[in-house]
Amino acid sequence: MNKTTIKDCNFNNKKVLIRVDFNVPLDKNLNITDDTRITAAIPTIKYILDKNPKKVILMSHLGRPDGKVKEELRLTPVAKRLEKLLGQKVLKLDDCIGSDVESKINSSGEKIIMLENLRFHAEEEKNDDNFAKSLAKLADVYVSDAFGTVHRAHASTAGITKYLPSAAGLLLEKEINYLGKTLESPARPFAVILGGAKVSDKIGVIENLLPKAQAILIGGGMAYTFLKANGINIGKSKLEADKMDLAKQLIDKAEKLNVKILLPVDHVITDSIDPVGQVKKVKDIPEGFIAVDIGDETIKIFENALKDAKTICWNGPLGISEIDAFANGTRSIGEFISKLKATTIIGGGDTAAAMSKFGLENKMTHISTGGGASLEYMEGKVLPGIAALTDKK
Ligand code: 3PG
Repeated sequence: MNKTTIKDCNFNNKKVLIRVDFNVPLDKNLNITDDTRITAAIPTIKYILDKNPKKVILMSHLGRPDGKVKEELRLTPVAKRLEKLLGQKVLKLDDCIGSDVESKINSSGEKIIMLENLRFHAEEEKNDDNFAKSLAKLADVYVSDAFGTVHRAHASTAGITKYLPSAAGLLLEKEINYLGKTLESPARPFAVILGGAKVSDKIGVIENLLPKAQAILIGGGMAYTFLKANGINIGKSKLEADKMDLAKQLIDKAEKLNVKILLPVDHVITDSIDPVGQVKKVKDIPEGFIAVDIGDETIKIFENALKDAKTICWNGPLGISEIDAFANGTRSIGEFISKLKATTIIGGGDTAAAMSKFGLENKMTHISTGGGASLEYMEGKVLPGIAALTDKK
């Protein structure tokens, strides 16, 4: 890690502004349905609280309010959950910049303060300089622990580092270690599992990891563009026709590099997803049917390809795993790799949600808190919220 981390900093009597990613799912009654991102930031918050800071000020976005105040996207339920998890009072403010916010921070007797949703101000996503300055004015030092948002060049993730000394939090450091260091030089054999609906989302990952991997296993909706490119009948399954040529090129490139690309050889199919219609297991997909999961033989082939791997990186479910009838492939492969000795790295919101659903969340080496961010990291991209942090001295 070539960036300053919180372990390099002195927080004594300082006001510390921490960018977290508390963009958590809420139900219609504004109850948090998954607090993983809040619990993941606790070690950093506790670490800094232990170092005698003057204030710990937390900031985050929630949803996409497009620069307007949206009552249902206030961070109030998040602050309440954080208070519970920390066992300490959190003062929640109604805005994130301005003189009122400044005076409340300075006059309050509370140590921990949570600002209001940053994206209620359009300037946040525009990486507006004045907005970044207004945020920086609230504190003496800036910490980023918002891995889920480091692919965004926003005022609170990038611009602010021009005005405050900055450091990476423990979560950010851990994510960079697993997604960066491990995937840069993975212990071999290295297997990559890719799924999810769209090929277009995963092209960058395939191109980046192809020269490093020994096997790439493809399932989920994206597999069917590859199968169609191989001349296989896919019925009504998901197809990105404009990506068929690219799929073919990737298969050819893999062959040249001696990388195995494994595609489903049998399938769970249905004639209707919602509501779930007729469900069958087949080798050949008839007209009118949609493939929604990998079949039993594919599971065996995938397990065989994974059994000796030393590093496994997985992004994207292998079927529509949120629907029980179509979840067997993702569950079986998840259970299988959770028992291996390999380093297992899971990225992407849907794959992480699937692991939680199957009770596997504590059985992998690392489950990333980033959706888009983990994907971009696996693509080998420079992420602006990391690049902007102070370099290690
Ligand atoms: C996420 O959920 O992936 C992050 O919080 C980023 O959110 P965004 O896609 O709305 O920028």
